[in-house]
Amino acid sequence: MTTALLVLSFEGLPLTAGHDTLFMCDTLCCANTHACCPALIADGPRGVRPVVVCTLYYNWSYVGPDGEEHWHKHYPFCGGIFQSPIDIHNDILQYDSTLLPIELVGYNLSLTEQFIISNNGHSLKMSLPPTMYISSLPFRYTAAQLHLHWGNRHHPEGSEHSVNGKRYAAELHIVHYNSDKYPDVATAMDKADGLAVLGILIELGSFHPSFENIFCQFANVRYKDQTIPVTGFNVRDLLPERLDEYYRYEGSLTTPPCYPSVLWTVFRNPVQLAHTQLVALETALYCTQENDPSPLEMTDNYRQPQEFDERRVRVSFRQGVVLSVVLASILGVLVIIAVACCLIRKKLRGKKEDDVNKAVVYKPALDKEEDISNV
Ligand SMILES: *[C@@H]1O[C@H](CO)[C@@H](O)[C@H](O)[C@H]1NC(C)=O
Ligand SMILES: *[C@@H]1O[C@H](CO)[C@@H](O)[C@H](O)[C@H]1NC(C)=O
Repeated sequence: MTTALLVLSFEGLPLTAGHDTLFMCDTLCCANTHACCPALIADGPRGVRPVVVCTLYYNWSYVGPDGEEHWHKHYPFCGGIFQSPIDIHNDILQYDSTLLPIELVGYNLSLTEQFIISNNGHSLKMSLPPTMYISSLPFRYTAAQLHLHWGNRHHPEGSEHSVNGKRYAAELHIVHYNSDKYPDVATAMDKADGLAVLGILIELGSFHPSFENIFCQFANVRYKDQTIPVTGFNVRDLLPERLDEYYRYEGSLTTPPCYPSVLWTVFRNPVQLAHTQLVALETALYCTQENDPSPLEMTDNYRQPQEFDERRVRVSFRQGVVLSVVLASILGVLVIIAVACCLIRKKLRGKKEDDVNKAVVYKPALDKEEDISNV
């Protein structure tokens, strides 16, 4: 069984501003068939012939026979290079003074505009407008959507990126596409310089009022394919205060099709959610549709850390990283001093014993024995 993922575009025109160009469709459909998703096609600009490109996407999940160890069978990129997430640990870090603070434009969404929160069967997602972008990267990366990854009530550790082996409670991803080069996120998502994702680690702590703009909609998007429009709020408030301290590396989408197209920015400082907020996230949603006879809770929707051979994570901040280098150096020097001391002491003792040996007259046989014990 497969589900079809429609990539819709209208001849010569970019897609409706601010909305995802990816629509899930229950029916199997073929290229240039208008049979599925007629409503979406009807929404197209007048007088413009819609072009429907259907790509067949196989079901995937985080558990069971469609779990992540099987993703690569239908999505070869998932078994390929530059995969995400990763464990960010000291050995792979490299300070880079050219990493400027992240600059965000249009993150304070208009109160008069509406944005769509949806349950896509894998996560909770919110559409973002093209007026929102990152301005501090070599290209303009325009926002497309944000979504979350989390654990479960009994094991609330569901971040995708981990730091020195520590998995956080949850993780927010804000997905942007290279709008200087590509017309929409669907076109950009399989290009090497196509996407830039901001990763925000979430830990247990104090109540975070801004997340309520999303979380207060849980009841309306409990089941797969449910959507609800919400009014704008300041998305900047979901990010940590400091936007100048982050990890940067080249990786991939953490869900199928796992395209290696993401310039990752994972902020060093986590944001906090209250216990009640985390539990709400971990218990509110289902991967299955409303009438499904075997409902599946949406929990543990994170991918395991991927191999990171011969790749480097660049860091924008010195503190901590340099400290660990300094500590390692000091430790190295101490070890060398200790070894040197040992050798000198041994040599001195050897010399002393030699002196003693010289002072005492031994018979030849005994002399040999002493030599051996000195080696
Ligand atoms: C794939 O997903 C569709 C729609 O959610 C579902 O009807 C179908 O049973 C799934 N197939 C498998 C093999 O799980
Ligand atoms: C965000 O926009 C709202 C409404 O337009 C405004 O009242 C608020 O002061 C803005 N917040 C910031 C931090 O600029």
